[in-house]
Amino acid sequence: MLQLPARGFTRKSEEAGLPLSLAVINCSQLVTLSGAHRPRTGGDLRQLAIVEDGALFVRDGRIEAVGRRREIESFLDADCEVIDAGKRVVLPGFVDAHTHPVFAGNRANEFEQRTAGATYREIARGGGGIRATVRATRNASLNDLVKAGRRYAEWFLRGGTTTVEAKSGYGLTLEDELKILRAIKQLNEETSLNYVPTFLGAHDIPFEFKSRRQMYVDLVINEMLPRVAEEKLAEFCDVFCEEEVFTTDEAWKILSAARCNGLGLRIHADQLSLSGGAKLAAELEATTADHLEHTDAEGIAALKAAKVQPVLLPGSVYALGLNRYPPAREMIDAGLAVVLATDFNPGSSPTPSMTTILSLACTQMKMTPAETITAATINAAYSLGRGDEIGSLEKGKRADFVIHDAADYRELPYFFGVEHPWRVYVNGQLAQVRG
Ligand code: NIG
Ligand code: FE
Repeated sequence: MLQLPARGFTRKSEEAGLPLSLAVINCSQLVTLSGAHRPRTGGDLRQLAIVEDGALFVRDGRIEAVGRRREIESFLDADCEVIDAGKRVVLPGFVDAHTHPVFAGNRANEFEQRTAGATYREIARGGGGIRATVRATRNASLNDLVKAGRRYAEWFLRGGTTTVEAKSGYGLTLEDELKILRAIKQLNEETSLNYVPTFLGAHDIPFEFKSRRQMYVDLVINEMLPRVAEEKLAEFCDVFCEEEVFTTDEAWKILSAARCNGLGLRIHADQLSLSGGAKLAAELEATTADHLEHTDAEGIAALKAAKVQPVLLPGSVYALGLNRYPPAREMIDAGLAVVLATDFNPGSSPTPSMTTILSLACTQMKMTPAETITAATINAAYSLGRGDEIGSLEKGKRADFVIHDAADYRELPYFFGVEHPWRVYVNGQLAQVRG
């Protein structure tokens, strides 16, 4: 009989004593996403490599075999814990490749102001927006941030997300940025959720540098980046390249310095205007260009030529009450390896729910359910440099998988606003349970 922990997530430090091997049988669909070892483009986005009546065998936290139930059952030994999925669908854990999950307070007040007609930019110009969260986050201790972050980690896991990319960016001083990155490190160590850290010191020009912006860019380049790299607190660097935030010239300087410090590159590009971010991402051969609501055909062609992965964030369009979604179909037709992510943050996209994002991608961007699953798993994993480790259910990969309370994967974006996961496993261990 399967022993279930209490609802909530297990911590990585509690791993000892759990069974070394387990099998999941009786899956209506085992959505493996096995295939070529590269980000998926074109028609391959629809190939989910589903095994009907599938089963999965896991040993020491790694996937050892995937196949039909009969095949897998034939080699199970007596010590193996067997989990009956009850004819539910099993998918890789979602990989959320763009989040801002460490911040203090929230901005429910601004959400209300927007219902009265104020725009995101107007609120930012008045000292709200990112700067409001920066004030709260500077006043918070490392412990305060970890405590808030634990709550969000549980939300991600409950929604079936097992890895998140996590940006700093609400500190905007050397010490406050380090504090956020240290909070991310601690959350990675103590929760079941896996974090991939990104340094976003160039998220906004802080208030005290308003009339000396060049000095802030210099601070990011000369003090923050070397320290972040030296302490190995981030794998990527990101810049918010946008009118009234960082210009393409400033973003170029910061990202070039980031590359010299050994970091991979991501860019908030063309979110609120066509500001040249996509072309800059292509010029720098960044790993990703994110948002892209305003990117034109030239920008799409540039991304294709430079093999930059677009990370599309429809949650922010929805939550800001806008209607210009990124041109996903044009991007897919152009051969881009599209990724979908939540952009979880206290301002423009306060949702940790990947299935909500998949639903928006289907209804507003006309991606098919299969395309959204690929964009939220294997393609997202490649965009984080982890395509060989996570994002599909294949031999040798980490056993991060979710048994959803549905029989068909298409139900995930279709029944929206529902938390589908029934059991969530990270590294072959039960991380979330629903009654
Ligand atoms: O991705 N665009 C910039 N950064 C976030 C918003 C952050 C905030 O509003 O706090 C985004 O949408
Ligand atoms: Fe963002």
